[in-house]
Amino acid sequence: MKILAVETSCDETSAAIVKFDKKEKYVEVISNVIATSLQMHQETGGIIPENAAREQLKYIIPVINQALKESSINESNIDMLAVTIGPGLIGSLLVGVETVKTLAYIWKKPVIPVNHLFGHIYANFIGRKAQEIKFPSIALIVSGGHTDLVLITNHENIKWLGGTRDDAAGEALDKTGRLLGLPYPAGPKIEELARQGKDNFKFPRPLIYSSDYDFSFSGLKTAVLREVEKGELDKKRLNDFCASVQQAIIDVLVKKTLKAAKEFGANSIILGGGVAANQKLRDEFSKITEIYVPEKKLCTDNAAMIGAAAAFLGKESSWETIETNPELYFD
Ligand code: KG4
Ligand code: ZN
Repeated sequence: MKILAVETSCDETSAAIVKFDKKEKYVEVISNVIATSLQMHQETGGIIPENAAREQLKYIIPVINQALKESSINESNIDMLAVTIGPGLIGSLLVGVETVKTLAYIWKKPVIPVNHLFGHIYANFIGRKAQEIKFPSIALIVSGGHTDLVLITNHENIKWLGGTRDDAAGEALDKTGRLLGLPYPAGPKIEELARQGKDNFKFPRPLIYSSDYDFSFSGLKTAVLREVEKGELDKKRLNDFCASVQQAIIDVLVKKTLKAAKEFGANSIILGGGVAANQKLRDEFSKITEIYVPEKKLCTDNAAMIGAAAAFLGKESSWETIETNPELYFD
């Protein structure tokens, strides 16, 4: 089965062709094209939704064409379409959803609506046999917009356990970066500087011992701001600062994920989302337990993960019934 998947929830415009072997439950990526309006957002220090949507419009057709071209598959060989319907920025989402609906109408193909967050989870099922990941599984989704813990009992039973009460982990990194004058998104740059630094600042680890599965990173942001206001950081102190912020976030993520895994008797832990590209986070988990994590380019937003989620969870629908839902979450 071949799926053309589209992802436009934020500032990446992506289209992918994935092949799903139903019997083996194996997803293979044939092409995965990603365009980003990142440079524009670097100039504004963050995403302005209207700008992101306008860029999506510019990229969507060339990106779909490129994904088809790179796959050497023409539309008559595509079995179905898949598209992110939410959560995300309404203007950006609409570009992908309306484009896919139009293609589905013209090509007379079914469409699978996909929750972006499930995409981040199912990025883990790309390029490996699904049976390898033993259920029940605890998934940690950490991105610029989300920090969630999820219990996966089986593909039909995915339950949200808790999430951030305020800022997401990636957002905390991005906001720290803005205070420090680092380019957006700051996660990768903070990771790089942190490699030369030490966790000397000992920032707070909010909710690390709370009995629920919630997170909160806005207190950390305040502590970071107070420290920045004390004055210029020289190079060494900047490295230490980055190492300290990163470590505070990692400590909370690891602790709470392991707590959930223990309480629900998980047989596997999986990570997803842009922050899961962080090598230090991967290493800290791996020191303690085995984890599944997508290759780095499948951690950040891309359409192949949307194709993978569609393959496993997909409810084939007709284009008329597909609706954008910026507030979509877990059930
Ligand atoms: O999943 P994603 O591409 O978009 C959302 O759905 O939000 O995640 C983007 C987030 C940004 O906050 C970015 O700073 C963070 O992922 N990020 C990282 C790294 N690469 C991206 N954070 C820490 N370390 C990284 N290497
Ligand atoms: Zn995402």
